[in-house]
Amino acid sequence: LLVKNPYMKGSARSLLLKWARSNSEWIWKSALLSYSGMNTPEEYWRLLFAEEKRMNGQIKVRISEEEVNARIAGLAAQISEDFRGEEVVAVGILRGGVYFCTELTKRLTIPVILDFIEASSYGEGTESSGQVKITKDLIEDIEGRNVIVVEDIIDTGRTLSLLLENLRARRPKCLKLCTLLDKPERRVVEVPVDYNGFQIPNEFVVGYGMDYAQRYRNLPYIGVVEA
Ligand code: IMP
Ligand code: MG
Repeated sequence: LLVKNPYMKGSARSLLLKWARSNSEWIWKSALLSYSGMNTPEEYWRLLFAEEKRMNGQIKVRISEEEVNARIAGLAAQISEDFRGEEVVAVGILRGGVYFCTELTKRLTIPVILDFIEASSYGEGTESSGQVKITKDLIEDIEGRNVIVVEDIIDTGRTLSLLLENLRARRPKCLKLCTLLDKPERRVVEVPVDYNGFQIPNEFVVGYGMDYAQRYRNLPYIGVVEA
């Protein structure tokens, strides 16, 4: 609105535009905060600094690297036992499931084919019109094969239930779900979990593939960002 103001001309206008471009992220956040009804400057600053701190924050270890690895070894042993004498296709879900998928498959003692899929869901506003868009598809044809979907964390279950539906339509011999973490409190759509690493409370976690604004995926443990 400021930029379109007819009285804003010449160098004042170009200076303002330049400032807006270099501070666009800050401006959007401020606009969102004011739109959401937080009107005092103190509140702006408090929230903006909290966000800043989260981005550069200290990470507190929730589940240590040793604990995670031990649990993954346990899951791998169980899967190897359940599919003894057979081959499985491990389908890692990009991007969060990558670390877990590689650590898990490394420890399987049965033949395993590694593949990945990336999906994003839309139409979540209305329960029944939810659709999944496959943004990167499998390379393997999974018809008649044992498929294990490997996910980082199950939260609402929305994306995953649609993705499982999509994979089931390709008629695999069996379709199992293996997740490193499960947040059952947050579940909106029922998803059958066959293998689960840890059940956690409703808390935002990072590391071992999981991100906060694409950061922290590479942490070798599961942590929480302290605001
Ligand atoms: P949903 O189950 O469809 O709601 O989405 C689950 C996806 O959201 C996961 O695959 C993660 O990518 C992401 N997610 C959910 N909870 C967390 C979290 O605590 N930390 C990081 N990513 C999360
Ligand atoms: Mg994910």
